[in-house]
Amino acid sequence: MKTIAAAACAAILLVSVAYAQQPDPLAPTGRWTAYTGGRAATPPMGWNSWNTFASTVDEEKVMGSAKRIVDSGLAAKGYRYINLDDGWAAQRRVSDGHLMLRADKFPSTVSRKQKTPSFKPYTDKLHAMGLKAGIYSDMGRNTCAQAWSATDEDLPKGSVAEREVGLHDFIEQDIALYFREWGFDYLKVDGCGLRDFGPHSPKVKAGQARELAPIMDLGAISRTDVAAVQDLFRRVGAAIQSNRPNGDFIYSLCIWGAANVRAWAKDVGSVSRTSDDISPAWGRLLVNYDSAVHRALYAHPGSWNDPDMLYIGAGDFDADHLTEARSHFALWAMLNAPLLIGADLRKTPDALMEILGNADIIALDQDAAGNQAVVAYDSSDLQILVKTLGSGDKAVAIFNRGSAAMDVSLQATQMKFRDDAPVELTDLWTKKQMSFTKDTKVRVAARETLIFRARGTRILADGLYLSEQPGKVNPAIDGVTRPIADPTIFRTAFGWGGTHGAGDRPQYAGWGGARADSAPYGQTLQVARKPYPAGIGILANSRLEVRNDGYRRFAANVGVDDSATDKANAVTFTVYGDGKRLAESRPLKWGMPAEPLEADISGVKLVELVARSTATENEAVSVTWGEAALTGR
Ligand code: GAL
Repeated sequence: MKTIAAAACAAILLVSVAYAQQPDPLAPTGRWTAYTGGRAATPPMGWNSWNTFASTVDEEKVMGSAKRIVDSGLAAKGYRYINLDDGWAAQRRVSDGHLMLRADKFPSTVSRKQKTPSFKPYTDKLHAMGLKAGIYSDMGRNTCAQAWSATDEDLPKGSVAEREVGLHDFIEQDIALYFREWGFDYLKVDGCGLRDFGPHSPKVKAGQARELAPIMDLGAISRTDVAAVQDLFRRVGAAIQSNRPNGDFIYSLCIWGAANVRAWAKDVGSVSRTSDDISPAWGRLLVNYDSAVHRALYAHPGSWNDPDMLYIGAGDFDADHLTEARSHFALWAMLNAPLLIGADLRKTPDALMEILGNADIIALDQDAAGNQAVVAYDSSDLQILVKTLGSGDKAVAIFNRGSAAMDVSLQATQMKFRDDAPVELTDLWTKKQMSFTKDTKVRVAARETLIFRARGTRILADGLYLSEQPGKVNPAIDGVTRPIADPTIFRTAFGWGGTHGAGDRPQYAGWGGARADSAPYGQTLQVARKPYPAGIGILANSRLEVRNDGYRRFAANVGVDDSATDKANAVTFTVYGDGKRLAESRPLKWGMPAEPLEADISGVKLVELVARSTATENEAVSVTWGEAALTGR
């Protein structure tokens, strides 16, 4: 009996020790944890072969566009990466796993000295032109063209094993080949190999590809092994880092918003696709744009949202559709998207080259502060985006998504400028200047995006709201425990499936994530009926990291947002400076007025904002860091 009691005591003790030792998941780390590994202090710019050439890409086509990039002056404006997409691989040599390229398509890779063709002379050529070189692979054993291409003509040839040109079992070997041996600077890693080669795949059934149990499903986050997908992408990232220790690389994730990647890519790679492929159709542009536009807090210098390549030059964005082409460009710049031209530049008309070369708009994309635009006015047909630039100026875009012209009232306060002082606007297409106080009326044509640089007098005179500087705010833990699809992203009839099947369903997880100037599910930030036009909305049990470069004071009004559905659980808001607790609120419940929270952050490099709740359902507890700001330098 005694022994049983003693054993029980020991067990209880062990459990409680283990419990006491459980690390606090919201503990401050004292360091910025978002990815800063590659050369993506600003979003990459350049060209990619896929949109125009798909798997028919060859050296002449690539070099033709590269030459025009240089000759037209686009290279001098920042377009540097010349990226080879799917279609370059011939097969994997089974004896040693070495990847063979399609030497017939890339003649510079063949030399008398070397038996095995090498891309080194090809990348040397691009480097000699002052450019950088990019290449493509897939995280599985096979690429997307191998899963989806209608013909076999341009696909890898040989046995099943020879056709396995993806990274899956060759991460170290292939990454060393790309970066060390061949001299590439940019790697795009696709994901069809992790998704499309299950037992029902036609290629698998036909004996053309080996089965790989799918770990990712774009249509269903619940059928996705997020941790396994993440692990593979981290391994590739580590391999790139060790093969390019000087950090001169771009690591591009291409899993189209699947596997909850819109939440975690910011910790893993330089750019990450937030949606399925763009096509030259207006509806498709809306999908891709929507997949990134509310995700400003998930993009920072080093890691950017990628709504896919530019389709300027084709379909709804060709030279007969300059309004749409300009919108595409302006919106991508506001989103801090990679600016990767997808057109055959050998044939691109001057009118489109001018759009791609608009230096004032490029400058918004490349602004060093790295703040993706925040939605200042949101509706299904019209949006106003505002981006805070390093100079303190704002960029503002007024986007008419619909098919009829609209009269729009642009307000100074939407830019967080005072409405009793003049605002100067410069139209970045026409260069016309204008000035207004309080508000101004503008007419925006169907599918048009007006885009301005704006200067005014700030409402917050001596600092910045956190929502004005999303590039410095990282939702390290955003509180989302059960990722579900975002229902607000446009669902077009022009997706990959055309109008087959039952339609385009919501599919991009991330709904309820951290938002600038909005509650997590899109409502107005509001605590006990008091609205906060500026602030961060996030779920409970979350931790935000905020870089501080010299401000002395943090202040916010904190509380449970009116949009929360849990009225029972309290939330405590804590401010840390470089890992040390600086200030804490009382436990606050739904309906209680917001409480002011202030901290002296002099000398602090990293501020962390933690909202702790007794709730287990974080999704039911939206919290507001109202008017959260860094002030006083
Ligand atoms: C897709 C990817 C495209 C392109 C294509 C190549 O998955 O999204 O951008 O790379 O594969 O097959």
